[in-house]
Amino acid sequence: MSAMIEATPVIRPAITPLPKGDSCVLVIFGASGDLTQRKLIPALYDLACMGCTHPQFQVLGIGRTKMTSEQFRGRMRDAAASSKETRNYSEEMWAEFQKRMFYLVGDANDSDFYPLLRARLEEMRTSGSSANHLFYVSTPASVAQPIIQGLGASGLNEDAKSWSRIVLEKPYGRDLETARELNAIVLRNFAERDVYRIDHYLGKETVQNMLVFRFANSLFEPVWNRNYVDYVEITAAETVGVETRAAFYEETGALRDMVANHLLQLLAITAMEPPIAFDADAVREQKVQVFRSIHPMTRDEVARSTVRGQYGPGQIDGRPVPGYRQEHGVNPRSSTETFVAIEFHIDNWRWAGVPFYVRTGKRLARPLTEVCVHFKRTPQALFARTPDEQIEPNVVVLGIQPNEGIVLQFGAKKPGEQMQVVPVQANFSYRTAFGDQTPVAYETLLLDAMRGDPTLFTRGDEIEAEWRIITPIEQEWAQLPSPEFPNYAAGSDGPEAARQLVAGGLRGWRTITAPLRQAA
Ligand code: BG6
Repeated sequence: MSAMIEATPVIRPAITPLPKGDSCVLVIFGASGDLTQRKLIPALYDLACMGCTHPQFQVLGIGRTKMTSEQFRGRMRDAAASSKETRNYSEEMWAEFQKRMFYLVGDANDSDFYPLLRARLEEMRTSGSSANHLFYVSTPASVAQPIIQGLGASGLNEDAKSWSRIVLEKPYGRDLETARELNAIVLRNFAERDVYRIDHYLGKETVQNMLVFRFANSLFEPVWNRNYVDYVEITAAETVGVETRAAFYEETGALRDMVANHLLQLLAITAMEPPIAFDADAVREQKVQVFRSIHPMTRDEVARSTVRGQYGPGQIDGRPVPGYRQEHGVNPRSSTETFVAIEFHIDNWRWAGVPFYVRTGKRLARPLTEVCVHFKRTPQALFARTPDEQIEPNVVVLGIQPNEGIVLQFGAKKPGEQMQVVPVQANFSYRTAFGDQTPVAYETLLLDAMRGDPTLFTRGDEIEAEWRIITPIEQEWAQLPSPEFPNYAAGSDGPEAARQLVAGGLRGWRTITAPLRQAA
């Protein structure tokens, strides 16, 4: 049984206007691709509407698809108008925004293209464009290297009088070795401070709020350690399947797609020590320390502490959906995992002995991303009415999406004669407190890159430290017998083996199937 109380905001602050980016030309490689239409253009349009782009801000899209700047604007208009990421679409605002957009046909794999790009940027410069260049690599991973080398060879990577930065989308390599190679090429051509490796989870307000929750409150930090915490659960559940990305997903799988970056970042932010300052190096230094405290798993540990899953047919929101192997473009005998659960251990002073359970999957019962910190039970069950009765322990739930907020569960006396304890929840909801006009991840990250703040981007050594954890798991999976796939139905909580992973003692995952009650 659970009663509910609501933690109302003490003040209702006005949202502080976002700052303005520097002047620049944003050069997007992969401009005719999916990410540009779904995320980048809606975010840039929103930033322009909020007055966050400099008057001298322009976009130059690069792609192999033959089209004129006019046709590019038309395509982007359709994408922005229909995207749910675009907040206040209006034809008048778009007409203004689109004047800043240009397109150049080119093959980023071809080294002859880069002198042409340079000439085009110089031409723009003479007609009044900014000399600062923000290169955004939103292409399949294999094209990233020729782009970086092409920019270096044509001298677009540096300029004494202006800045030149590069934003790199994931996947950043596919294992430790390829990530190292990519880092080496990047750093031969750009200084680390000019490299922005995107993990869009770090741009989410609720993820940034985890840092505030931990390091702006004195209440929780003293108990945030192995003396008080029993275990930590990190979940990223999605209802979507592979959609149109079968080719990419078949190569990638859930471990590389979600755990190697987003979930390890959530884990690091949950577990890191306080940084000495809120700046790029101090924050990233502490995250790297967490990754370094997770030892690469042996084969036995992989067999014992990881679970792979793949969805079979089932129902999502009452509607039948196919299994992964029946999706368009997927090998009917595919052994790619669409679900992963892993028990990590962080071998440091603060967390020794506390399991961190991480799980993610496609086609699960409902979308739910959260970090749940389960505290130990009280040493004595003072109010238990029978020897077997358990008093629910405290839980802090950091809701990333769609329940954006924080839930604090504690015991309260049920009214009546007996001293009976029921769990109640203090609920802080982002939307109730601040409305729903908070910036979305790509807006925050694009603006940070334009302003030269890499705090919310991953550093080269951080990426390598992430792969140092993930690559041994991939390697051992390749040696171990493949699980019987499919092993969970679409619309469920995931494979039974994942439940068993956490089922020792009184532990358990929070259920994905049943939604948590929220305060009205
Ligand atoms: C991407 C993954 O990085 O993150 C996708 O490639 C996944 O497979 C997506 O769906 C999830 O992002 P979000 O912001 O919807 O949680």
